[in-house]
Amino acid sequence: MATIIAGVGSSHVPAIGAALDNGKTEEPYWKRVFSGFEKSKDWMAQTKPDVAIVVYNDHASAFSVDMIPTFALGCAAEFPPADEGWGPRPVPVLKGHPELAAHIAQSVILDEFDLTVVNKMEVDHGLTVPMNLLFGTPKEWPCRVIPLAVNVVMYPPPTGHRCYMLGKAIRKAVESYPEDLKIVIFGTGGLSHQISGPRAGLINSKWDKNFLDNLSKDPKKLTRIPHIDYMREAGAEGIEMVMWLIMRGALDDKVDEVYRFYTVPASNTAVGHIILENRRKAAGKSKRAPAARSKQAAARKVAHRIASKG
Ligand code: DHB
Ligand code: FE
Repeated sequence: MATIIAGVGSSHVPAIGAALDNGKTEEPYWKRVFSGFEKSKDWMAQTKPDVAIVVYNDHASAFSVDMIPTFALGCAAEFPPADEGWGPRPVPVLKGHPELAAHIAQSVILDEFDLTVVNKMEVDHGLTVPMNLLFGTPKEWPCRVIPLAVNVVMYPPPTGHRCYMLGKAIRKAVESYPEDLKIVIFGTGGLSHQISGPRAGLINSKWDKNFLDNLSKDPKKLTRIPHIDYMREAGAEGIEMVMWLIMRGALDDKVDEVYRFYTVPASNTAVGHIILENRRKAAGKSKRAPAARSKQAAARKVAHRIASKG
């Protein structure tokens, strides 16, 4: 059986990709951002998922404003990086998992979530930046990727509740796939940011931290937040955060928060990052070596330290 073992939340600021591609990672401004993902890269290297389901939004790269699906599942064999104006990012082409993706599409659509099936798609910074943050800059990505693009760029985006319930339907779909596959699901985007207009540069750290706390402990509370509150409190682009609720819906009700990182700013955005593990894995279903587990315990301590710094 395929199993979702953990969820990862991560911002996807395009300037992070530009810093990587232009050799700026050691500059103090960027080092502050990248240093927060060092432990996460270790965690990912230990976790070794077979497939990453990456919930992200397309920023008018694959879909123009002529046509914006609410939920679009990438069922292709591969997804090349999109040209966002400076040529495609120099990252490897992402290999899909068409069999599992088709299975998820069938299961989720028969569960009455009307996904758009996408058989050809380029992926932008919304997907490639979180991949870099968690997997580094390898010559080949170490796992297959199933992109799930969500409309958060043109009103009306889906509600947080709809996203959360879609996460649950994805989990059910994954667990009815017969092959033993380890799956990590990503929620990307956010946290608070507004890119244009009189409130450009808006960041609301109190809102962001509350969101991360509830994501971990009381996600149902987040599902009741209306769009207007995201806009008012977290900025026009803060609505990207609803995508994290798909990731959270795909996890157990109770999870272990094994890592958290928050820094302000990167470009215009508050960078948030969280790793949540399903407990079944922590309870011993993991195939990880004992050494890896003690590394996990260390990561957990760091998470608490970071969290308690507030
Ligand atoms: C920025 C952040 C985003 O999430 C995005 O899609 C584009 C720009 C920014 O902070 O500049
Ligand atoms: Fe974005």
